Amino acid sequence: MSERKQFRAIKGTRDILPPDSALWNRVEGAARDVFANYGFGEIRTPIFEETELFARSIGVETDVVGKEMFSFFDPFDSRLRTEVLIEEARKRGSRATGVGEVILSFNFEEITLRPEATASVCRAYIEHGMHTLPGNVKLYYIGPMFRRERPQKGRYRQFYQIGAEVLGQSDAPAIDAELIEMLMVFFRRVGLDQTTLYINSIGDKNCRPQYVESLREELRRVKDQLGEDSQRRIETNPLRVLDSKVPEEQAIIEKLPRIADHLCAECRDHFVKLKQELKMRGVKYDENWRLVRGLDYYTRTTFEVTAAGLGSQNAVCGGGRYDGLVELLGGPPTKGIGFAIGSDRTILSIQEGHPEWKRELPGLAVFVAWMGAKAYPAAVQIARKLRDSGVSVELPAEEMKFKKSLGLADKLGARYALIIGEDEVASATYTLKRLSDAEQKKLGENDLLEYLESERRGTGA
Ligand code: HAM
Repeated sequence: MSERKQFRAIKGTRDILPPDSALWNRVEGAARDVFANYGFGEIRTPIFEETELFARSIGVETDVVGKEMFSFFDPFDSRLRTEVLIEEARKRGSRATGVGEVILSFNFEEITLRPEATASVCRAYIEHGMHTLPGNVKLYYIGPMFRRERPQKGRYRQFYQIGAEVLGQSDAPAIDAELIEMLMVFFRRVGLDQTTLYINSIGDKNCRPQYVESLREELRRVKDQLGEDSQRRIETNPLRVLDSKVPEEQAIIEKLPRIADHLCAECRDHFVKLKQELKMRGVKYDENWRLVRGLDYYTRTTFEVTAAGLGSQNAVCGGGRYDGLVELLGGPPTKGIGFAIGSDRTILSIQEGHPEWKRELPGLAVFVAWMGAKAYPAAVQIARKLRDSGVSVELPAEEMKFKKSLGLADKLGARYALIIGEDEVASATYTLKRLSDAEQKKLGENDLLEYLESERRGTGA
């Protein structure tokens, strides 16, 4: 006999179940509302794209591209069908017989599950000629991203982001400030009050290269005192050394040259104006000169938001300006700025900081406790009417003993039990019992509908 296999979600992925999923919907709904008020429209891009799109945008030396992408060949790509492949290989003089060998001998397109969505949004902006649209193009997205990271609390291989991007011809600091204002309004709307916004400017292609060089020189001088990762980054990506959390490196990093002292006049001016704009809008921030971010496309403004109660994975949002990325991907000269909120961490932080979150969800309004064959059709009909008017109803599929029925209603968290027995059918009334205090009233159909509808409006359910 074969052993029964117990399937489990793959490491780093997870199921989001009720009632958590209701909180997810509430958070995503808040983002949709807030972003719409700021003039953003939703974009839905594919979950996978050409690997090269991400490699070019995010940078080949980054952890995301170097180590964390889920990439594969498309087995349904018509060019990859066995016969076609083998014939093609023969034509080109190969003696390969297996598909694997053939794939290796030709440069077929590789696909990657998106590790983030900024690159996809820029690709779509170019593909649909969105630079011809009036004003700035403001887009938001909500969906899963994939990175092969070591899973831990707040870090998953399939995680979710709520992101927003502004693309257009202007790089006015007011655009950065308005976007950040919108972000902080969102966090307040979902009840995340203990957040900190960090901002920085990492310069542009005029001033950053000189800074990176002087940083590299300084790092080479202290190389022996650094760990393996930082030593490697001196040559590949010295800015990332500033991100290091290794305790022994902190004192050394504090003494390194700072980008603020190397910004060109334009970048310095941009950063000063951004800070003035944030103050004007009442957005509180902390400057953090070490905030360089882990993706290569950033220029000038970078920012991050951290939240309480999350341990080491406490960044709930990251973002920044990426002027030049669209051009790098073959599009017209374009300025861009955006952010992505980590939904998983945002929701974890809400759950840890507000244990009452479950009580705030609408929940089940009515449990229909019906008894007797005659009561059943009446129960089905009233359930339908209540549901049509927006009231959430649970109708047991099989008859239950009265006590058991009320017990289940209670366990399901229903606010009311609607009792329908043969008496109720005969008198065309319903007995509505409020489960919190057992108060009961007899109501005709219209009064019942009206009462429950107004109750729904009152609870916001
Ligand atoms: P990021 O900093 O790589 O930026 O990710 C943004 C947020 O996604 C992080 O702050 C974190 O909350 C969440 N996140 C990232 N990786 C994971 C993970 N493995 N598990 C759980 N949450 C995670 C970006 O992705 C940029 N595309 C943001 C951006 C948009 N910049 C400009 N426009």
